[in-house]
Amino acid sequence: VQAERQAWSERIERNPVDFFVRQLASAIDHATERLAEFVGTQAGNLVLVDNATTGMNAVAASVRLKPGDEVLLNDHEYGAVVRIWENTCRSSGARCVVQKLAVPFASPEELVDSLMAGMTARTKLLVTSHFTSPTATKFPVADICRRAHERGVPVCIDGPHAVAMVPLEIDRLDCDFYTASCHKWLCAPFGAGFLYVHPRMQTDVRPAVISWGRLLDERPPIWRDEFHWVGTRDISSWLSIPASIDFMQRIGLEAFRDRTHRLAQYARGRLEDVTGLSALVPDSADWYGSMISMPIEVDDAIALQKALWRLHQIEVPVMQWSGRRLLRISCHAYTQSSDIDRLVDCLPPLLK
Ligand SMILES: Cc1ncc(COP(=O)(O)O)c(C=O)c1O
Repeated sequence: VQAERQAWSERIERNPVDFFVRQLASAIDHATERLAEFVGTQAGNLVLVDNATTGMNAVAASVRLKPGDEVLLNDHEYGAVVRIWENTCRSSGARCVVQKLAVPFASPEELVDSLMAGMTARTKLLVTSHFTSPTATKFPVADICRRAHERGVPVCIDGPHAVAMVPLEIDRLDCDFYTASCHKWLCAPFGAGFLYVHPRMQTDVRPAVISWGRLLDERPPIWRDEFHWVGTRDISSWLSIPASIDFMQRIGLEAFRDRTHRLAQYARGRLEDVTGLSALVPDSADWYGSMISMPIEVDDAIALQKALWRLHQIEVPVMQWSGRRLLRISCHAYTQSSDIDRLVDCLPPLLK
């Protein structure tokens, strides 16, 4: 994948004008078509962006909020996403509502009910993760979309952890927006993300960065042009997305998902034994995929993360979340059960 990115970069640099004027549009079409097939939608509904953050900012720049309006999030959301919406709401006089969801979750219905309890007649958008960052929990996003739409509220899904970790069929979710980064589980280079926009929202959406608003070619303009030409730049990461899909398909996605989920399950069991603390979600692939977030007892989460790196060269996030300390273990193709053993075995003297 890195070699492919380098090759695209050299091709762009060799003759930028020829590339931007005559090759850019079809190169983007090809990358978008492969990605669209992979995530279960049509290329016409997707734009390539740098990462999930850029996609979320585009949604924030597109939703028209008035004073008194509300945007509904929940307390499992990624910190930067909460910040984007707090900032957007502050500048328009709207309110960013962060609904607290009771953990552990007993059922998807209970989760959706507690999220919907934060919805009011003033809610203009619901923003939810597909897989949450601090708690590594799979949210029932199709049910969330259905329930929000019954109340006439559009839904934006923040999905960087879902891409490759689970089969994605965005069209079936019937969400309004879906944004993700492909550098995580899909192994694309940094700078490869996407934003899906449902056809009913495409006339209103625009990027956070404004440029010429069109590609340098002779086709009639479409909504996606506004995103794909955001100034003169190296888009080799976007164009390497098909190589990352090929790479993961060569590994075998079903085997990858099965094996990494079982590793996460193994980590869950080993940590429960060491700490005596239960995981936040039931032990089922309906609730978590290739990563698991486990409660631990430690005073200083940052100090533990530092110590694991300094003493053992183990890189693992230790988070402070809702009054708890959580250790989040991600299992990719290169992770072995011996890596998990090494982490768990060195924990006892570092915990309370
Ligand atoms: C749930 C979630 N949303 C959004 C992001 C932001 O992704 P990026 O930094 O690639 O824009 C992350 C990053 O870790 C995340 O975990």
